[in-house]
Amino acid sequence: MLAIIGGTGLTRLQNLQITHRQVIRTPYGEPSGALTFGEIGGHHVVFIARHGYGHTIPPHEINYRANIWALAEQKATRIVSVCTVGGIREDLAPGTVVLPDQIIDYTNGRKHTFFEGGDKPVTHIDFTEPYCAKQRGRILKAAKASHQKLLDGGVYAATQGPRLETAAEINRIAGDGGDMVGMTGMPEAALAREAGLSYASIAVVSNWAAGRADSRHKVDLAAAEGVFKEAIERVHRILEALVKVDGD
Ligand code: HPA
Repeated sequence: MLAIIGGTGLTRLQNLQITHRQVIRTPYGEPSGALTFGEIGGHHVVFIARHGYGHTIPPHEINYRANIWALAEQKATRIVSVCTVGGIREDLAPGTVVLPDQIIDYTNGRKHTFFEGGDKPVTHIDFTEPYCAKQRGRILKAAKASHQKLLDGGVYAATQGPRLETAAEINRIAGDGGDMVGMTGMPEAALAREAGLSYASIAVVSNWAAGRADSRHKVDLAAAEGVFKEAIERVHRILEALVKVDGD
């Protein structure tokens, strides 16, 4: 079954025929909210809003382990996560929808692994390609089928938040190879890999990153609200098509 993790601007799925909601208890505490089960065009989907349904949980307080564990426990096998980013690369202007293919993790202090505690074996997951190639392929196919523009590839830099970055930090991230910056991509992707789930992200650019273009002196997250909302509509169309590509 396909799982969709919604981020800022995507706290519910359009066209989802909800069958039930379920609160899942996990060994890692509470997920961000009840899981929402339903169907789109006859295909089963499970949905969770990463920041909670009322968007009350900030990036550094999300219980990423509980969310991934709950989805795995409910037999999700594939995850598409939707996240919001600041654009660093020149072609990543607000309103762009992009499918990242790499990650750099700048977060700290988050619960980032299932493999801790004396009872767990020492495990080093392979994370060379942090996003599942098959899942990325399905998303690209879905974008094509739904006639929505989706940029293929880019390095997602995950920062700790909740504050935005300084201009110098963005320059450093750009120097490291980062193309976009967000606060929720990690440890979510690594935990999905640890849990054996196929995982990829669709990133929606909401603003220029600090120090770039319109954000040269200040980041105004609301400045491009119109294009951001329109981009989220395009993501809904991609997700509807993805459910069909994925099947059950
Ligand atoms: N930085 C970090 N996270 C973000 C940004 C940003 O500029 N925009 C949206 N999420």
